[in-house]
Amino acid sequence: MERPLTQHIRPGETNSLADYQKNGGYEGLKAALKMTPKEVQEVVKKAGLRGRGGAGFPTGLKWSFVPIGDDAPRPKYLIANGDEMEPGTFKDRLLLEGDPHQLIEGMIISAYAIQAEIGYIFLRWAYKKAAQTISKALAEAYEAGLLGKNILGSGFDFDLYLHTSAGRYICGEETALINSLEGKRANPRAKPPFPQTSGLFGKPSIVNNIETLCNVPHILRNGSDWYKSISISEDGGTKIYGVSGKVKNPGLWELPLGVTMREVLEEKAGGMRDGLKFKGLLPGGASTDFLVEEHLEIKLDYKGVEQAGSRLGTGTMIVLDDQTCVVGMVHNLEQFFAQESCGWCTPCRDGLPWTRNILWAIENGQGKMEDLELLESLTQTLSPGNSFCALAPGAMEPLQSALKYFREDFERHIKEKRCPWRS
Ligand SMILES: Cc1cc2nc3c(=O)[nH]c(=O)nc-3n(C[C@H](O)[C@H](O)[C@H](O)COP(=O)(O)O)c2cc1C
Ligand code: SF4
Repeated sequence: MERPLTQHIRPGETNSLADYQKNGGYEGLKAALKMTPKEVQEVVKKAGLRGRGGAGFPTGLKWSFVPIGDDAPRPKYLIANGDEMEPGTFKDRLLLEGDPHQLIEGMIISAYAIQAEIGYIFLRWAYKKAAQTISKALAEAYEAGLLGKNILGSGFDFDLYLHTSAGRYICGEETALINSLEGKRANPRAKPPFPQTSGLFGKPSIVNNIETLCNVPHILRNGSDWYKSISISEDGGTKIYGVSGKVKNPGLWELPLGVTMREVLEEKAGGMRDGLKFKGLLPGGASTDFLVEEHLEIKLDYKGVEQAGSRLGTGTMIVLDDQTCVVGMVHNLEQFFAQESCGWCTPCRDGLPWTRNILWAIENGQGKMEDLELLESLTQTLSPGNSFCALAPGAMEPLQSALKYFREDFERHIKEKRCPWRS
């Protein structure tokens, strides 16, 4: 089984430029610089790479919306989204700390494909070690002529900077991220226009997730057919899957895209800790719908998870066991989302604290049966299309699916006027 993204990552270590090059690093860049930018886009399109930041948008297709040629507005920008504040998600951190040149190579190739001359790595504020590993790797890359003017004698210029976030979840939403980079308040922007044509400082810009960009060097080095062949899904490549919660062996594993949920949960994470039973999980971070026992055989790819009623999201699962109160868990998540709302649209600004307060009342024995209908109606009010960004609808996903699969647990709280999971 091939693990192109993580096979050279050693626990607690960071690969230097020399380590990375010893393992074939920057060969993908050399191959890309011999092609035209449009040819590089085609290779990535053919490989079937889809964004690993949550929405799964096809990467080559996204790049193709950027105007190219002598008349294109300049400068153009490439931004790596390393904000990673989704609860339960910690996959990009591994890549940033373990092999920073893989990201830098991926960014140079991607910038070449859209002819961007400036790049930013937008990093979660709390990722202090990653800030150090990236800073060091950037210095090494400039020293080696891999960044700056006339990269490897190709005539292509690209400057890359590290920017640390102010520490809010909304900064990870791509247009809020762009506002934040411009020094403005991190409110999402109305779309259209999309960043591909009018992004940072009004210029064409691409925002891609860290894991997405780390795939690019391998595709250019080994080709799109190889990339498709290492997946067991209709989409290409591997995925860094993660598991947190009360399993025996929480962690991250790079596996072919399309393995089953059971394989990750039982073979990799070792199943539930002794004495606990599996009850459900959020498959791709906190803003995805719960899946339950009957879904264990589904393929963890974009289509498989969607057909089961949820989303692959970030591919990092949060597991719920039978001795943890689902009302308490969902209350905790809604508390996070309410706190992180930027406040720009009314349904989200007012609806999320309202949702959190109702859940608090139910969890603390003060709920009424009508509250369940109220919660259902809030999931409609905050559904896609009623807000500027996906924070609010994302926040409703764990709630609406908890009401669907674990309604009895909510009703028990109301009938018994207490949380049955607390002694
Ligand atoms: C509230 C919110 C937070 C987000 N946080 C992140 C994040 O931390 N990292 C990320 O890559 N995408 C995040 N996204 C998704 C981005 O808006 C964007 O879709 C993604 O960076 C695109 O990269 P990709 O096409 O490579 O997946 C977030 C979206 C929302 C609505
Ligand atoms: S949905 Fe929430 S976070 Fe997104 S723009 Fe509206 S208020 Fe801000």
